[in-house]
Amino acid sequence: MRQVEVALGERSYPILIESGLISRAGAQLHPYARGGRLVVLSDENVWRHHGSTMSEALAQDGIEAVRILVPAGEGSKSWAVLGDLLEKLLALGLSRSDPILAFGGGMIGDLGGLAAALLKRGCGLVQVPTTLLAQVDSSVGGKTAVNMAGGKNLVGAFHQPGLVLIDPDVLGTLPDRELRAGYAEVVKYGLIADADFFCWCEMNGFALLEGDAAARLHAIETSVRAKATIVAEDEREAAGGRRALLNFGHSFAHALEAEAGYSGSLLHGEAVAAGMALAMRLSVAEGLCPDEDAMRVAGHLRVMGLPTSIPGQDPQRLLARMRQDKKNASGRISLILSRGIGQAFQTDAVSEERLLSFLQHEVSGGRSVA
Ligand SMILES: NC(=O)c1ccc[n+]([C@@H]2O[C@H](COP(=O)([O-])OP(=O)(O)OC[C@H]3O[C@@H](n4cnc5c(N)ncnc54)[C@H](O)[C@@H]3O)[C@@H](O)[C@H]2O)c1
Repeated sequence: MRQVEVALGERSYPILIESGLISRAGAQLHPYARGGRLVVLSDENVWRHHGSTMSEALAQDGIEAVRILVPAGEGSKSWAVLGDLLEKLLALGLSRSDPILAFGGGMIGDLGGLAAALLKRGCGLVQVPTTLLAQVDSSVGGKTAVNMAGGKNLVGAFHQPGLVLIDPDVLGTLPDRELRAGYAEVVKYGLIADADFFCWCEMNGFALLEGDAAARLHAIETSVRAKATIVAEDEREAAGGRRALLNFGHSFAHALEAEAGYSGSLLHGEAVAAGMALAMRLSVAEGLCPDEDAMRVAGHLRVMGLPTSIPGQDPQRLLARMRQDKKNASGRISLILSRGIGQAFQTDAVSEERLLSFLQHEVSGGRSVA
């Protein structure tokens, strides 16, 4: 079993990664199941594919799975679903020492994580991520949130899990488009601070998508190790801290997702892929980054079936969305840009005029997907 530690003093926790881990989850989860039961939050898709494996694994260790299901999709990451979930948890008589087990993708992890942060001012949380995106990113680091009409993830809390269990085998049932979208977040770690890992992605990305177990394991472990290191340095995304780098591509992505209405027409990882390609091109336009690096990144994303632009946007509306970004301070838009592959940094030096002109050039009208 691979193990990565998120070193946060008394809130430190392990990330365990192993093929088939869910079918043996009872042994890992036994210490958390006080009173012989465990609340498992999941969505209907995940439960249909993997619910019986989870229930049986818990039952083997004498734990009853009390399941709560929400509809699949980003629409469930809402204030209304959160309120309903909290009422259900209270009706179950959950105490602060009873953890919520978030069994699903990033939607379930963010929703369940926020419920755990709020319930009785904070109860335990175990993350069992089932999408590539959640396995390499969202299940680690303690960010939880729901979306509001004004934008994505605008209401949330930092609430670290006590344990993360990653079973790469569950990716076998993940739709191809979701797998590709999650792969964008894998590439992100290479682009932020690990040029060698980006090279590895160029060499092994196809194998990963096609189901190569060793490639998946390597990508997951490298990604969570990178994330754990950054989170340990800067847990709460302090001003000027390293955690903001994990938002590479996300200023554009969140604006694009909001414009798409959080619909299935644009998945989070797809928006991140387009956002990263745009951040690279803006870095080139600002004279910060070699053109060949931006072209190499766009080329890789494109061959992996990911978008590198989302044309047909209203640049003024996108800019207005980008003004809502949580990284912004003192009325300036803060962006993560790049000096080259593996060299991301945060800056507020791009004026709104230059950003608007860039958006007009890159994403307005009918510019075809690069
Ligand atoms: N908290 C963080 O640090 C963080 C980081 C990145 C992204 N996020 C959030 O994560 C969310 C996106 O997560 P996601 O891409 O995992 O989406 P998701 O949770 O909506 O899952 C995508 C789809 O795959 C299905 N699914 C999940 N696991 C499956 C499996 N093993 N087999 C078959 N189907 C399966 C789901 O039912 C859903 O239809 C966004 O809301 C994003 O904001 C959070």
